[in-house]
Order: sequence, then structure tokens, then C-alpha cells
Amino acid sequence: MTVHETGAPSVGAPSVGAPIDRVDGHLKVTGGARYTAEMPVEHVAHAVMVTSTIARGRVRHADTAAAERVPGVLAVLTPANAPKLPTSDKALGQPPEGRKLTTLQDDKVYYNGQPIGLVVADTLEHAMAAAELVHFTYDVEHPELDMATAPRGSTASGRPGGGEPPSSNRGDVDAGLAAAAVRVDQTYTTPIEQHNPMELHATLSVWEGDHLTLYDATQGIFGVRKTVAKAFGIPPENVRVVSYFIGGGFGSKGSAWSHVLLSAMAARQLGRPVKLVLTRRQMFGPVGARPRTVQRVELGATRDGALTAVRHVSTSNTSMLEDWLEPSAVSTRIMYATPNCQTDHVLARINVGTPTFMRAPGEASGTFAVESAMDELAYALRMDPVALRLKNYAEQDPESGKPWSSKSLRECYAVGAERFGWAKRTPAPRSMTDGRWLVGYGMATATYPTRRAKAEAAARILPDGRAWVRAGSQDIGTGTYTVMTQVAADALGIAPERVRFELGDTNMPENPGSGGSRTAASTGSAVHETALAARRLAVQMAVGDAASPLHGAREEDVRAADGRLFLAADPARGETYAALIARNGGRPIEATSTAQPGEETKQYSMHAFGAVFTEVRVDRDLGEIRVPRVVGVYGVGNRLNAKTAHSQLVGGLVFGVGMALMEEVHVDPHLGRYVNADLADYHVPVNADVRSVDVHFVDERDPHVNPLGIKGIGEIGITGLPAALANAVYHATGKRVRDLPLTLDKLL
Ligand code: MOS
Repeated sequence: MTVHETGAPSVGAPSVGAPIDRVDGHLKVTGGARYTAEMPVEHVAHAVMVTSTIARGRVRHADTAAAERVPGVLAVLTPANAPKLPTSDKALGQPPEGRKLTTLQDDKVYYNGQPIGLVVADTLEHAMAAAELVHFTYDVEHPELDMATAPRGSTASGRPGGGEPPSSNRGDVDAGLAAAAVRVDQTYTTPIEQHNPMELHATLSVWEGDHLTLYDATQGIFGVRKTVAKAFGIPPENVRVVSYFIGGGFGSKGSAWSHVLLSAMAARQLGRPVKLVLTRRQMFGPVGARPRTVQRVELGATRDGALTAVRHVSTSNTSMLEDWLEPSAVSTRIMYATPNCQTDHVLARINVGTPTFMRAPGEASGTFAVESAMDELAYALRMDPVALRLKNYAEQDPESGKPWSSKSLRECYAVGAERFGWAKRTPAPRSMTDGRWLVGYGMATATYPTRRAKAEAAARILPDGRAWVRAGSQDIGTGTYTVMTQVAADALGIAPERVRFELGDTNMPENPGSGGSRTAASTGSAVHETALAARRLAVQMAVGDAASPLHGAREEDVRAADGRLFLAADPARGETYAALIARNGGRPIEATSTAQPGEETKQYSMHAFGAVFTEVRVDRDLGEIRVPRVVGVYGVGNRLNAKTAHSQLVGGLVFGVGMALMEEVHVDPHLGRYVNADLADYHVPVNADVRSVDVHFVDERDPHVNPLGIKGIGEIGITGLPAALANAVYHATGKRVRDLPLTLDKLL
């Protein structure tokens, strides 16, 4: 079992909140954690996808003869010979449960890099060699790649983050802008970005008759089950999806993509398990991306900085397959207390892979635009950027008028400014230098909605006093195994070392996909309530058992800690779960329960907020940008584990540094080819790129959000930071860069 080397709670002390090490940490660092592609399945055949080299048109002919002659090749599937699926791959439903996929059901090509063939062989090497020999000829059409001239998509079928409408309007923005003493009207752009989790997308399909077991690298096992069952026309109960360990997802593994179905299709045709692992290059296109955004932001303010109007219109790209919307302007509705606010989204259909959720979809790109514009407004007003935000502080949700379930943003600004040393900033651009370095300080507001979905769990108190708790959730590297162990431990009154928590299998109780920063709140609520239910059963057994020291006690007077039930007023009077169960038939005490959000979601507006401060140093001659310091201060309710929570925010901030300074998918404007489709050319931050990252949480109690009082923290870290860095670069250089990433060429 796990040995907690740091922060081990003392016996009986609450585990929730304690910075315990990951319960799966030992397995991960010793290689014992099995990821999808490592599952030990016998007689596996290896599949390799073949992808299109044109961005638009049709496959005219597939020459597979040479590939089929390679030793060990078992099948070469193309649009000409692939098995037909009962449900069209274009009719699988809405994300995250369905997508419009390309699974060799027709000859159409919608983007460069689209799967158009599949080679299956006895070894990966044979499959790779044969895949090189499949030769396609095409009827080529001219691809649409320019968002400015591309046809518009329908935002009605797009899905903003939490089901919000794509357009909003309160007050009279034109009147508010006309009445403003100072205005900002600028356009900000963010590029296509690729999630690039360390673990490649992978699926291993095993059919037994009409039953399919699918090992899949996914953020949503139940969503994959629905998609696959629908595609193959079989009942969902016939599909078991397993995902025990996931090497990052960031949204790209939030829905089933074409390769999942291709793997299952080949396995069924061959009557043999098939493993399909994407190459890094194939991670660009077929498995989603953050789309490019072009965002116009108009702000109007009085001389003393009160916002009279905010208008935010975001145009993002989608594909020719689906109208997928990056909801960049949604968070703008709740950010500041202006009476007049209008937001809208526009879609441009181009020949690239369908975009999808990418860490804080909407908030990450949207806060770059609005928080940059707020900085421009602060300069126009000669006002401190923090003071401008405080002047427009929203005491309640300005869009709905509802009270916040909790909001600690004012404290985040204050604590962040203090920790960072904001007072040392001299306001004028280029006013702070250190040798050849131009020094800049910038800040921005961070925000992410607090979400929760229905979730179920099962808990057993075992005869030996240990507990076994299960929920069909996922751990995408965020620490679900660990924090659920802690939640169950406290609710049961059993030390975390004696609690085994399992996830990642559709044979377990149903849980939502791990996206939208909602796993801890959703699955955590279910685990908490289910463990309490199991404990209640044990207490009832004890107080009703004439042989128990607790016999005749009132249920509410009984406490549980360290595997033992006892009277609150007389802790010596009690017994262990093990003793209780031994006397009562020796069978586990078992409970299942479902937890779901209720009325509170209608009464309160629920969001996490934070403030980010950054220092940049820009080489005065070369334009090179360094980030010596980032300070992020957040109000996110309770934390389930101080260490994993800290890690989530550090990870989010580092992701934000990548978004701000490096990340950009280059799509060739003529061929639609993903030019930098590997980790040598698509840069993400490494340790040398990010120096001091100071994450701090203010004390925030939220009695409304969920039973644990927690707000999701997987995504807020990336929000605000790109704007804070762009604002710091402006402060350092006097150059306003409105186009991410902030590469040095834009400063020369
Ligand atoms: Mo996330 S983009 O909700 O995995």
C-alpha cells in the first residue's frame, strides 16, 4: 500500500485537504500503471491509420496491392472495401457523446490528415511498413482555408461550454459606447492550438461475439460506450469501455474520434483484437484542436473608469464536418458590472479537422481578448489595471442578477498584488529596465464556471475493516484516484491507506466525462454521499445490535474514525467496523447512491475566480521574452488535496505560458497541411521556460456549490495568464501584441 512520505495525516484527522501523495504515484513511477496501449491482451493485431494528403476532394482510387504483399499484413481497409456501419459516421450525435467522424464509409476528404485507410498486421512494424505503400489518387478540390472568406457555420448547432446561448445582449451597448468618455475597439487573435497530451490517443478493441471490450485513452468512458454502441448498432450494455490510466487529455480525449471506431471495425472484421495507436503527427487534425479565434472587443468607460459598455464578438473556425463553437465570449457576460453588454459568436467553415474542447475552451481564448482590452483601457484612462478591475467589480452576476455562490476575487487581487510586489511597478511602458532587459509587470483576471453533473458510486465496508469504493470516472492525470480515496476515507471514518478506490470501467456506476472541471465536484459528491450511506448502514447495525457497545445509542451521536465507530461524548465506547461485521454475518456493508445538482444551480451563479500577475523580461535588441515570475491567486472553495490542487494550478499556468508564448499550429494556406505536426516544431514550455510559479489559494467557503464545497480547478489556471503576459510585454516594451503567440518577431 502507499506510504505517505509527506503530509500524512495523524490518526483520525481528516484526510480531505491534506497534501497526501498520489495513491497511484508508486505505480506510475515504477511502470506498474498500465495505459491503454499497454493492456496485456493476447493475439493482438496492430493497426496503423493512413491519412489524406489533400485537404478537400474525393478518394478516386486506393492502390493497396503493394501493402497487401508485405508479410504479416492482415487487412488493408479503404473507402472501397471497409465494412459498412449501421449508423452513419456523420450521425452519431452531439459532442461529447457523438461527433461527425470519418471511418471509411465514403470517399470524401474534408481536411489534410483525415483517416482514409487502415492497415492491420501481425506486428506494428509490418503495419507501419505497409501503410507507407498504400497509394491514393484523388479528385482534388480547392480547399477553403481563409476564415475571412470562408462560408459561415450555424452557431445554433454549436455548443457553448455549458449549454449557454451563443448570443447575449443586456442593456444598450450602442448607447453605452456613445456615452463613453474613453473607448477601446480592438481585434485579438489566437491560433489553432493542439492539446498534445504525452500519451498518444490509443484504442484496443476486443470482440467476443456481439460484445465489445474497448480499452481506450479517453476522458469519458460512458460517452465512448454510447458512441460506439450507436455506430455498431448494438446495445450500450454490450460495450465495456476501460480506461484505468490516462496520460493527459486536455479535452482532446473528451469524445470518441474516428480511430476508436476504426479499431473496433477492424477487430470485428478480423475476429481478432486490434490495437490502434496514433502517431504524434496524427494528433494534429483527427482528434480536435482549439480553433483559431478572431475576437473584436469594444469597451466604453467614463473618465473615472466605470464601464459603460462591453461588446465581444468572436469568430472561430470550425471544420466542414461539424459546427463546433469555441465559446470565447461567454465568460465576458459575467466578468464586470457594466449595464450594457453584448456578446456573439460566428463560425467560419474551413478544411481542417473539427475543433474541440481544449483546456478552458472559451475562457482561455476569451480572457486573452477581454483582459488585454481592459489593460488597453487602463492605459487610456491612466489608471492602474487592478484599480480599473476593482472599479467594475461585479458584486453579483451582472448577466443573471443572481448572487454568487461565493466570490473572493477582491481578495485574490489584493493578495496577488501583495505577493507579487505590484506596488513596485512604475506605470509607464519601458520605464523599468535591468541591463539589456526591458522589465514588464502585467496582470489579468482568471475565471472558470463551477459545474457539476449527475454521478453514481458504490461503497463497501469489508469484513477486515478496509473499504472498497468504485465510480466509473476517469483520472486524466489530475489525481482523481487520490482525492476520491480521501473523500471516501473521511466519510467512512477509515484511514485512506485502508480505502481502495477504483475507476475507469463502464462496469462501474455511471459517471460523467472528465471535462469542464467537474470531476471532483460530480464524482466527489457521489463518493461522499455513497460512503456516508454505507457508514449509516453500519451505524444502524451497531445501535440495533444488543452485543454492540453502541447498542441503543442515537445514530446521530455516533462518530467514525480510523475504522472504528464510537460515541461522540464517550469515545472509549465503541467498536471497529471489523468487529461489528464479524458479529453480524461477516458480509460486507454495501451502499450505492446517486448525487446530482439541485435547486442551488438555479439560485446562485457559480464561478471560480482568480488574479494572475506576471513579470516578463524582454531583450531590448532581440525581442526574446523570458518569464521569471508568475503569481496566481485563486478562490476555488475547499481543496480536496492541497498538493494535487497546487499541481493543477501550476499545470494550468504552464499551459497558459505555452498558449501565450509558443503554441500555434501552422496550417499551410494552400494545401491545408499541418506543417509543424510534431513536438520538435510545435513548442510547449519546458522547465527552462517557466521559472518561479507561485500559486496561492485564498480561504473561501462555499456552502452552495456541492456537498464538499469545492470548485473545479483543472482549467482556471490557463485563463487570464496569456493576457497577463501580453500586458506585461506591453509594459516592458510599449508594444501591444494582439495576436498570440507572443513570438519575438512580433516585437522587432
Ligand atoms: Mo476539458 S477542455 O473540459 O478536458
